[in-house]
Parts: sequence; C-alpha cells; structure tokens
Amino acid sequence: MNLFNVYQLYDVTPVKATNVFVTDDKGVEYLDLYGGHGVVSIGHSHPHYKLKLKEQLDAIGFYSNAIKNPLQDELAKKLGEISGYPDYSLFLCNSGAEANENALKLASFYTGKKRVITFENSFHGRTSVAVSVTDNPKINAPINSTNPKTFLPLNEIDLVEKELAKGDVCAVIIEGIQGVGGLDEGTTTFFQGLEKLCHKHNVVFIVDEVQSGYGRSGRFFAHQTHNVKPDIISVAKGMGNGFPIGGILISPKFKATYGMLGTTFGGNHLACAAGIAVLEVIEQESLMQNVESISKYFIEEAQKIPQVKNIKGRGLMLGLEFDFEVAELRKKLIYEKCIFTGGANNKKLLRILPPLTVKKEHIKLFFKSLKEVLNESVIPA
Ligand SMILES: Cc1ncc(COP(=O)(O)O)c(C=O)c1O
Repeated sequence: MNLFNVYQLYDVTPVKATNVFVTDDKGVEYLDLYGGHGVVSIGHSHPHYKLKLKEQLDAIGFYSNAIKNPLQDELAKKLGEISGYPDYSLFLCNSGAEANENALKLASFYTGKKRVITFENSFHGRTSVAVSVTDNPKINAPINSTNPKTFLPLNEIDLVEKELAKGDVCAVIIEGIQGVGGLDEGTTTFFQGLEKLCHKHNVVFIVDEVQSGYGRSGRFFAHQTHNVKPDIISVAKGMGNGFPIGGILISPKFKATYGMLGTTFGGNHLACAAGIAVLEVIEQESLMQNVESISKYFIEEAQKIPQVKNIKGRGLMLGLEFDFEVAELRKKLIYEKCIFTGGANNKKLLRILPPLTVKKEHIKLFFKSLKEVLNESVIPA
C-alpha cells in the first residue's frame, strides 16, 4: 500500500532531534525554527518530558474515559493555575480541529442557535464545522457547507454588531493571533468589543489559541494582552510537545451533561503525562520570559535587514514579510543552510515558530544564514 499523497514534502528524513536541532538519516543537523508547525514547545526530546512519558508507559498507557483518570484532574488543575483560568473546566481531545469542533458544538448546544461569525484569513482546522469556519474554499468540501457562517474582516466591530443583532448567532470564533493566514491579529479595542457584544447578545465568545497559546506569544494566551476573558479557549499544538492532545477551557457558565461531548482517545494517560510535563517545563524553565527576550532580539535583528519589508506577529510567533514569494528562500534555507522555517497563506511571509527554548545563538545563526542567502542569490519573485 502507498500513502495517500496529500503533503508536498521536503527531501529531508529526520531520525533524531534534541532541543532546537533535528538530525536527518545522513547525519546532517538542522536548526528547527518551525517546531513542526508550532508544536514543539519545550524542545525536542526534553529529558523531563521523556522521563514522564516513559514512567507513564511503564505504569498505564491507555484506558477509556469510562474509568477514573486522576492525571486528567492533575492536568486541568495545573493548566488552570498557569493560564490564569482556575475556575474554568477542561474538556480533553486529540487535536486543534477537534478542540474547535467541540467548542462550536458546545456554543450551539448552549444557545440553541447555529450561525457562526468568523474572520477573513482564519484557520480553525479540517474537521467538519472547524473547516467550515476556516477561510479557505479549497479545503472545504461540499459536505462542509451545510452550517451557516459569516466571514468578516478583522477589526470592523460595527459589522460584527450588525450580524449579532440578527439574533441567530451561536458563536464568534477568532484566533489569538492568526497563524496559517499570516500573523494578523485583532486589536485590543476589537477583542474588547467582541467580548462586550457577545455578552450583550448571549453569543459564545471563542478564542482559538491552538497556535498562539501555551506561552508562544509571551503570555500564556495571546488574548491575555487584550484583557478579555473568552467563554471558551481552544488549545492543542504546544500542549503536548508532539504527543497528540487538544482541549477546550470552558467558562463556569456552561453546565456539562453526560454524553454531550466525548472521545475515545482524548485525555488518555500518556497524553496527560505529556501535557503535565510540558506545563512543568514551561514553569520550571521560565519559558515565557525566554520568549519575551528572544522575541525582542529577533525583531531587533530583523529590522537591520533591508529586504525585510515588515515584521509581523509577536513573541515567538513571528513573520518576516518580503516583497517576493518566499518558497524559494525557504528551500535555500533548508537545503543550503540547514534551517527549517515556515510559510503562510500570505506567500510573501516567512513564518518562525521555534521551540520556546530557543536561544540568542540560534537566532544569530539564523540571521547570518538569512543574510547570506539574501545577498548571495537571486531569488525569483
Ligand atoms: C489556529 C489553529 N486552529 C486550529 C488548527 C488545527 O489544529 P490540528 O491540525 O491539530 O487539527 C490549527 C493548525 O494549524 C491552527 O493553527
């Protein structure tokens, strides 16, 4: 059997990885400034993470959600404390799309309504409802077009008000910082306006922190710089450092009933052990402070490069915008300089999502290599 070929692959086969470096099958070492789509939060093969997972595997790896699992309570308590949401409850699942799917489902159960307000350039995942509120017709199949939704531009609060006043909306969903779309984000005024309008119209305010959460912005959640409190927050990616886990943090105003949400694998013992280890390392190694200082250094260095026309994002969710498409530049970085970077729907944006453990010396190496590539080669537009 062959693989169903849906991914365009770089010709690199990683076999080993430590912290911010990935080694391929030929022994070549790559600097990982992309963290496998912003997933590797505490660095590859972190010793504490490995130990916790190995210990858990020796104890019990999996049982279903029909039995008690104290690791889920431990993870919920720790996440509540570190995130500043100790009074919220946690539903665990396996991915970002699934987190948003459940967030939207809960909003619909709660309000009895079904239209969703979402934003241009958004990405919320590929499951049925999550993809339907994602602004990309190419990944929406006809079967995904059944639920009503409205795409609005970011930062146009009057347009949101007009839609919510119609009375048929169950949820507004917005990314803390847009990831796949290209690192745009709502302003503080906009986030605060959304919160106020959602309360006024009894609409559920969902912030998707799948990519921007878990310390990546320098705060635990990107929305926390705007001083708002969403009704539901979705998380995944950095939550498990590569072990598949996702979840939603749910305001106390929602009451759970047995069976309303559910999953076979979500919150299993190994996933919880990974999730707990990640939070312990974020705390013990003060990774959010590291994000702030490395981000500042990265931005200072980026400002010195004339070809960089714009610097987008914040924390360690950053983008360098050029006046040419970056596909060729990314290829040169990977094949000539051994550095992984990311792209975005905005084809002129080089996306940087390194492990939160990245250090100044790694950023220095990146900029040295970037300058060499930009200055030595003709990169076609
Ligand atoms: C903001 C956001 N939401 C949801 C998702 C979907 O997550 P997953 O691929 O784990 O389903 C992604 C993935 O890139 C994302 O960036």
